[in-house]
Amino acid sequence: MTEPALAPSDEARLVAAATAARGRAYAPYSRFAVGAAVLAGRQIYTGANVENASYGLSICAERAAVFAAVGAGARTIEAVAVVTDTPLPTPPCGACRQVLNEFGPQVTVISATVGGAVTRTNLSDLLPASFGPESLPDRVQ
Ligand code: THU
Repeated sequence: MTEPALAPSDEARLVAAATAARGRAYAPYSRFAVGAAVLAGRQIYTGANVENASYGLSICAERAAVFAAVGAGARTIEAVAVVTDTPLPTPPCGACRQVLNEFGPQVTVISATVGGAVTRTNLSDLLPASFGPESLPDRVQ
């Protein structure tokens, strides 16, 4: 897998923001708290997983962070960090990969653990041959 370039200081800021966001997760059912942070236009937007008593309505941290960024006006996402308290870093789920693809098919993906393990990849490795905006040529911008 390729090691995408993201300045170490940007990566550290992003992981710190995702770690803080993880502390705000609402995960009473799975008890699996996830924090995410996206870098878009020098701004960082965060999200945490928010579960629901109707389980299927829960949302992942990554999508919460992407929607916060896009709702604030961002349209291009440069990097995303995901933080979990697991032995190994956790990659984004398939649904989150598809949502990330809409705003950054080459986005840098950093997965980190509370304990300090880190993996770095990019979305094109995680979601090859994707369906995206270019697949719908008549879309409105
Ligand atoms: N979850 C995330 O927030 N991100 C992922 O990439 C995988 C899973 C959340 C969803 C659910 O609240 C909990 O983790 C257990 O699946």
